[in-house]
Amino acid sequence: MSHLFSSYALGPLELANRIAIAPMCQYSANDGLATDWHMMHYGHLALSGAGLLILEATAISPEGRISPADLGLWSAAHQQALAPVVQAIRRHSPIKLAVQLAHAGRKASSAPPFEGGQALPPGQGGGWQTVAPSALPHAPTDPAPLALDEAGLAKVKADFVRAALRVHALGIEAIELHGAHGYLLHQFLSPLANRRSDQYGGSLENRMRFPLEVFDAVRAALPSEVVVGMRVSASDWVGGGWDIEQSVALAHQLKQRGAGFIHVSSGGVSPLQQIPLGPGYQVQFAQRIKAETGMPTIGVGLITEPLHAEAIVASGQADMVGLARAMLYNPRWPWHAAAALGAQAAAPPQYWRSQPRELQHLFGDTRLGQR
Ligand SMILES: Cc1cc2nc3c(=O)[nH]c(=O)nc-3n(C[C@H](O)[C@H](O)[C@H](O)COP(=O)(O)O)c2cc1C
Repeated sequence: MSHLFSSYALGPLELANRIAIAPMCQYSANDGLATDWHMMHYGHLALSGAGLLILEATAISPEGRISPADLGLWSAAHQQALAPVVQAIRRHSPIKLAVQLAHAGRKASSAPPFEGGQALPPGQGGGWQTVAPSALPHAPTDPAPLALDEAGLAKVKADFVRAALRVHALGIEAIELHGAHGYLLHQFLSPLANRRSDQYGGSLENRMRFPLEVFDAVRAALPSEVVVGMRVSASDWVGGGWDIEQSVALAHQLKQRGAGFIHVSSGGVSPLQQIPLGPGYQVQFAQRIKAETGMPTIGVGLITEPLHAEAIVASGQADMVGLARAMLYNPRWPWHAAAALGAQAAAPPQYWRSQPRELQHLFGDTRLGQR
């Protein structure tokens, strides 16, 4: 029996298998509004047979966008623009949905990667003034952010809550707070970006305070059936930065406060990072957090082979695997993995005839007698 294709209870959410489609920015929104690209992109990913689809980093405010083309959820119009995408998925797929809510902090106001990815100074190319824990730019040549004051912090927190309520109003069952990749919440955690001298900077407890306040505010605003988790970078890959020990401490805090999962990535806060890339290079961090906290854990990063994904779940290194690029390259990855592992994956009836003759049970027992 495949472990990768065993069902999983993510709190109240019943997932068909352990495959999560990791969040991927599409840089294809108009003023934060979802477009027909989102319908196409999420439409085909939703037919993949994965258990969970995590929608891209979705900005809680205009200034929280990575680029002017980021998806956002800061008004009723944004909720309305995303609704048809969610409804289409519901009509045609059993996949469970999450949205990643994000504020990019000092890494906001950049060109989309396929337009160069460079920082956009305020007023140039649609750029704006960024905000961050401290007035330190990400790279020395980037425009400096403004350090958030008390009112600024309160606004960010309120924006997270409002966006989370919109996710819930869309009928989406889970929220991933973006605490990774050098964006705002990670900037608070990492001593490389956070040089504050108030209660939000300095000690580990102080650096965790704002991300945990945001978590608490979002968790408190939603009914318990909505799963709220966090994506973290478990290491900055820079000496003196955020690391796995601090990540374990954060995970303990999140667990106590009712977090439903932790999605364990790494890096992104410093251009000085040295990342030893290789298959499953971040899974060790997920393993450590899962072993020490018992928190439902998603491992991610260069997991591309079905047998590797199976081994990660079977050995208990992580409860789920997150896949990003492999899902773009092959959006039917879960079907092929199910074929390789002798398991079953969901497919829409319109595609059932694609089932290979020698794999008559690939799309499940519902296929029997349908031809
Ligand atoms: C096109 C693209 C967009 C991405 N956008 C996001 C994002 O919105 N939020 C996020 O946390 N990570 C984002 N990532 C990182 C992925 O979620 C994932 O962690 C990373 O690609 C490593 O997994 P992989 O080796 O399976 O691709 C993105 C990656 C890609 C390739």
